[in-house]
Amino acid sequence: MTERIPVAVLGATGMVGQRFVSLLADHPRFRVTALVASDRSAGKTYGEASPWRLEGEPLLQDQRVLACDPDNVAPKVVFSALDKSIAEEMEPRFAAAGCRVISNASAFRMDPTVPLLIPEVNPDHARLIDPSGGYIVTNPNCTCIPMTMVLAPLHRNFGVLRVTCASYQAVSGAGYPGESAWDMLGNVHPHAGDEEQKVAEEPRKILGERSGKNLSPAAFPISARCVRVPVSDGHLIAVQVQLAKDVPMAQVVEAIRDFRSPVSLPSSPQPLLRILERRDRPQPRLDASAGGGMAISVGRIEPCEVFTLKFFALAHNAIRGAAGGAIANAELLDNWGLL
Ligand SMILES: NC(=O)c1ccc[n+]([C@@H]2O[C@H](COP(=O)([O-])OP(=O)(O)OC[C@H]3O[C@@H](n4cnc5c(N)ncnc54)[C@H](OP(=O)(O)O)[C@@H]3O)[C@@H](O)[C@H]2O)c1
Repeated sequence: MTERIPVAVLGATGMVGQRFVSLLADHPRFRVTALVASDRSAGKTYGEASPWRLEGEPLLQDQRVLACDPDNVAPKVVFSALDKSIAEEMEPRFAAAGCRVISNASAFRMDPTVPLLIPEVNPDHARLIDPSGGYIVTNPNCTCIPMTMVLAPLHRNFGVLRVTCASYQAVSGAGYPGESAWDMLGNVHPHAGDEEQKVAEEPRKILGERSGKNLSPAAFPISARCVRVPVSDGHLIAVQVQLAKDVPMAQVVEAIRDFRSPVSLPSSPQPLLRILERRDRPQPRLDASAGGGMAISVGRIEPCEVFTLKFFALAHNAIRGAAGGAIANAELLDNWGLL
């Protein structure tokens, strides 16, 4: 067996950080050797700094948490689960120190020199980086991912003209401790941050065309509304799409069903897009963990009275939408000798 690549997790004590630790515990290629967080956590054991909040046995409980400084952190492959404002400052510092920064944070997603990757959808955008030094690669917003993975076969086969969508987002998407119980119990509330802007912008970059080191975003507009609901894990999104061609619904369903990743990755499940026939699915409780949390569940693909079609799509926000998506990006970079 080949030696696993040592990796660091920045923001290891947070919601996504624990997911990284959990998903990497038995990973065939990567091994966590450095846990990094704020000065509040540095020097404590991982168990003290970050009581385990996920299913399964607590991991790496006796390992010391390191301060967030590239001089302190030995691995050159660095997964980032930092808050946006910290990522803005720290990710370029790690990249400047020669690290391959594979980030969940939104800080650099829309930077034209930084790939915004769903490896099964736009792997060629990884070619935007220059692997001769450090770099930053990002994965998309957790609500944008399920929608974009279904839009990919629709756009490529029929052309997408416009999209509207509304999300039902889990509380784990706000990190730990996230929203207050008072705000969330027996309640839903419109997302107060810039989520709607991310859901409107990011799919267009992902589905854009690359020519050398330049990207032209896909032209279609997206109007998004985002809502937090009292669900633990799994973001559901209701999407309406106007296509450029008038195609029978059976052909639309076939295009989604036939979608295949052009790359083979240990973290990428089969099937990738899982079409559910029951009219009451997908549901976060029943479907968010499909394919180890990496599959997209799609349901209710139906004609739309206003646009061409409508559907629901669901993804596990902290796995496909965060740690698992970033790990899949690292697998792609490793496959292509870019790590
Ligand atoms: N939750 C999701 O489903 C999800 C999905 C997609 C993307 N994301 C993105 O992933 C990132 C992490 O989200 P999260 O939900 O895991 O948040 P979180 O639970 O609030 O965790 C934040 C992490 O950042 C660390 N941190 C805070 N200030 C720091 C500083 N000054 N220096 C170094 N580390 C610092 C925290 O360490 P301490 O414990 O020491 O404070 C903690 O490890 C965010 O950018 C978020 O937008 C989250």
